Amino acid sequence: MIFEAKEIILKNGIKAILKTPEITDAETFLNNIRTASGETDYLTRYAEEWESFTVEDEEKWISDNRKSKNNLVIACYIDGKAVGSCDITFFGDMKTSHRAGIGIAIIESYWNMGIGSAMFSELIKFAKEHKGTEILELEYLEGNERGKALYEKFGFKTVCVKPKICKLKDGTYQDLFYMQKEI
Ligand SMILES: CC(C)(COP(=O)(O)OP(=O)(O)OC[C@H]1O[C@@H](n2cnc3c(N)ncnc32)[C@H](O)[C@@H]1OP(=O)(O)O)[C@@H](O)C(=O)NCCC(=O)NCCS
Repeated sequence: MIFEAKEIILKNGIKAILKTPEITDAETFLNNIRTASGETDYLTRYAEEWESFTVEDEEKWISDNRKSKNNLVIACYIDGKAVGSCDITFFGDMKTSHRAGIGIAIIESYWNMGIGSAMFSELIKFAKEHKGTEILELEYLEGNERGKALYEKFGFKTVCVKPKICKLKDGTYQDLFYMQKEI
């Protein structure tokens, strides 16, 4: 699926473009997810776990997403460089096609600028126009107050908690909060 380029103005007045990534963005994308995974405990992989992913793997991921009828990726570009992205998967089986799952990650130097809100706003609009979608869902890890604030702002509600889903290198466990929003 493709989201055509749309210009937005962030909280600090900076211009940004939201659009589906191009295959030529694969290296930047891979670097971003490695960077983001090292900057936060709220993504499910450590940075080094991305080492085995190649630019070719990422190119294939972007290409598959662009062609897919079930997945949409929206990335945010500032000065031509991707700084974060979100994605939605419309589940395809007969018993689950009323649901769609959302993920998001932005690199730290661009947090709190309204990028997450701008991407969520477009993703939700897109999902509302997708026939048959009734429920949007996402998960966040314990402690991710910024993520939680963003999701609650857009009407997501925690419907269950799965205990001890992640275990950090220092032995700390994190519960996982599963949220839904009816559209
Ligand atoms: C979580 C994340 C997607 C949010 O994106 P963002 O662009 O920083 O979000 P926004 O700037 O649009 O909005 C953040 C909101 O959280 C609020 N916020 C920031 N820090 C907060 C905190 N510690 N506690 C509560 N609210 C907080 C901000 O005030 C803002 O709310 P507002 O728009 O009402 O003022 C981004 O920080 C990120 O990618 N983090 C690392 C990876 C991650 O956690 N991904 C999600 C996994 S579930």
